[in-house]
Amino acid sequence: MPTVPPSTRPAWWPHFNSTLRSTAVTARLGLVLGIAIGACFLTGLLSYFQYQAWEWLPPPASPVWGYRVTQGVHVATGMAAIPLVLVKLWSVYPNNFRWPPFRSVKRVVERITLALLVSATLVQLFTGFFNVLNWYPFRWDFVSVHYRLAYIVVGSLLLHVAVKLPDIVYGLQTKVAEGDVLTEIPWNENPESHSIAGPLPPPVTPGLSRRGVLTAAGAGIGVVVVTSVGQTLTPLEPIGLLAVREPSKGPQGVPVNRTAEEANVIGAASAPDWTLTIMGPKPYALSLAEIEEMAVHGARFPISCVEGWSANADWRGLRLLEIVERAGGTADSQIRVRSLEAAGFFNKTVIFGPQLSHALLATHLNGERLSVDHGYPLRLIAPNRAGAFNTKWLATIEFIS
Ligand code: HEM
Repeated sequence: MPTVPPSTRPAWWPHFNSTLRSTAVTARLGLVLGIAIGACFLTGLLSYFQYQAWEWLPPPASPVWGYRVTQGVHVATGMAAIPLVLVKLWSVYPNNFRWPPFRSVKRVVERITLALLVSATLVQLFTGFFNVLNWYPFRWDFVSVHYRLAYIVVGSLLLHVAVKLPDIVYGLQTKVAEGDVLTEIPWNENPESHSIAGPLPPPVTPGLSRRGVLTAAGAGIGVVVVTSVGQTLTPLEPIGLLAVREPSKGPQGVPVNRTAEEANVIGAASAPDWTLTIMGPKPYALSLAEIEEMAVHGARFPISCVEGWSANADWRGLRLLEIVERAGGTADSQIRVRSLEAAGFFNKTVIFGPQLSHALLATHLNGERLSVDHGYPLRLIAPNRAGAFNTKWLATIEFIS
């Protein structure tokens, strides 16, 4: 047993004596958290690509359910990461009370980078969750902050993993029930070294073991995931306690995020003289009656929301490509469709490449004429595309190129 120098710690200094925390526990929680954050980051990049698609890499149209899966995974891993990060922070917070507090410049620098990692992660996960709830209590532009902050989280996480690599290797190689105690207990005054760990004292909370902590954390995270993915995995809809939307509920069996009233388009959308104006090389306009007559093409595409819910639906309408070709365009054209909605980021969208070739201008949803909340008289619907970019209440089609 190594000799431990006498402690200089004042008696009033916080003292932690739980034996439940250890590097083995933290490393395992960290591993799962790293996988969740990695999956959340990658699927988030795919979602951001829907906002800023590169001209040289048009978003694919297949599989039609692609965005449904990637955004479902993004929201589920983000939600799972919230309890996970809280348990992980619980497992290490006594480290902030090690004595002496400022033992080296290296440690102070590490504290600062950790403060960045922890605060960026908490802001990212909680604001993401607020977004899932469709609640924006902050004034900043959610999408650009969420995108930029993701790089700060992942950058500081990679730095954290690099700094803690010896601890991670040690922790993962150690059995959960064994190994060092992470807390300031009298016989382990220098927890920066794992080698001086002594035998474990009796548990402070009888009955709860380290394995029990991991099992409880796993079960809690499992419950969060299973009760939230019902908003996209329809068989789990009945137990979707944390699911914000039920995929089969809403007008015509499909949820609605933004109603016609919220978009202030009810009058313009129900006007009998509504026309669709196509402003291409050979411009023309289509009346409501002409549109109804041409609406003979059907497709089954899911509608998948950035907030994580999705629902499969049967659509009927006109092929966008045919409308574009009649105006002098081709499958290589880049098109902007505009809504009757006067303002807002989502009152227009750009579509090109395979999604343009497979898109419908829909008049019908699930066998009925579109309800006004689903975009009457005409809306865009394309495969593998975020719901917000399937613009409703169409007014014009313009050519960008
Ligand atoms: C956003 C994600 C994460 C956050 C917010 C976070 C936070 C923290 C914090 C605050 C500490 C305490 C450091 C100290 O006081 O010295 C820590 C330690 C640690 N973390 Fe993380 N961490 C994250 C991800 C990870 C990942 C992905 C891994 C593993 C792959 C990991 C493994 C560890 C290990 C092994 C320790 C050291 C435990 C010890 O001192 O024995 N962490 N983490």
